[in-house]
Amino acid sequence: MSHRILLLGAPGAGKGTQSTKLAAEYGIDHITTGDALRANKDMETEYGTPRSFMEAGELVPDPVVNEIVQAALDDADGFVLDGYPRNLDQAEYLSEITDLDAVVFLDVDEEVLVDRLTGRRVCDDCGANFHVDFQPPEEDGVCDDCGGELIQRDDDTEETARERLHVFYDNTEPVIEHFRDEGDLVEVDGEAPPDDVFDRIRNAVE
Ligand code: AP5
Ligand code: MG
Repeated sequence: MSHRILLLGAPGAGKGTQSTKLAAEYGIDHITTGDALRANKDMETEYGTPRSFMEAGELVPDPVVNEIVQAALDDADGFVLDGYPRNLDQAEYLSEITDLDAVVFLDVDEEVLVDRLTGRRVCDDCGANFHVDFQPPEEDGVCDDCGGELIQRDDDTEETARERLHVFYDNTEPVIEHFRDEGDLVEVDGEAPPDDVFDRIRNAVE
């Protein structure tokens, strides 16, 4: 069974949704640069704060994210890595600092991605994910898990979501090609209900 899992996919492909399930199933850490950066949006770095890049839908500079990932990997036994690497330089850095057991690409069509992103709502307290149409909470605007307030991410407006998708197709698709060329990539169709996608991923990594 694989315990060092890389989950690749476009914004909205379901990386966070599936990583949460994988971490619970295998008792491994969920390492996600997106959440780490959102928790440190106003951290001063020599490049400025992460906020300015994130709110524009652009990539945060490599040295900042490389350091976050290295620290998280040092502390983890098994892990599912979500949101990294996003370009070939990050992929090269990752291959220097760890070995992977499985690389999974969640494949979802672009228009489906836009619908998922613009309808996503996240709990301001516990971070749980919902969708106004696809995974609605029991009570509008209230988290099923902890009762916290559901909010929309700053970068989930249609304009910023489309910019993030451009950045993905320009920078991250070459990373997917790289793993495909190496013969390490398992492709999973991400267009099904979350539990069905999870079964596919589990089959792929076991
Ligand atoms: P990050 O947080 O990593 O965002 P992302 O890659 O754009 O991916 P998302 O979190 O938006 O989507 P997801 O795949 O997790 O989908 P989810 O499961 O939530 O990064 C944000 C920003 O941080 C970047 O733009 C960049 O600025 C910076 N950053 C991060 N990492 C970086 C790095 N390595 N280098 C440089 N900069 C970096 O699902 C989406 C929605 O769909 C939810 O509402 C969910 O309920 C719904 N849904 C999920 N699965 C299904 C399903 N099967 N069917 C129907 N609906 C579904
Ligand atoms: Mg996510």
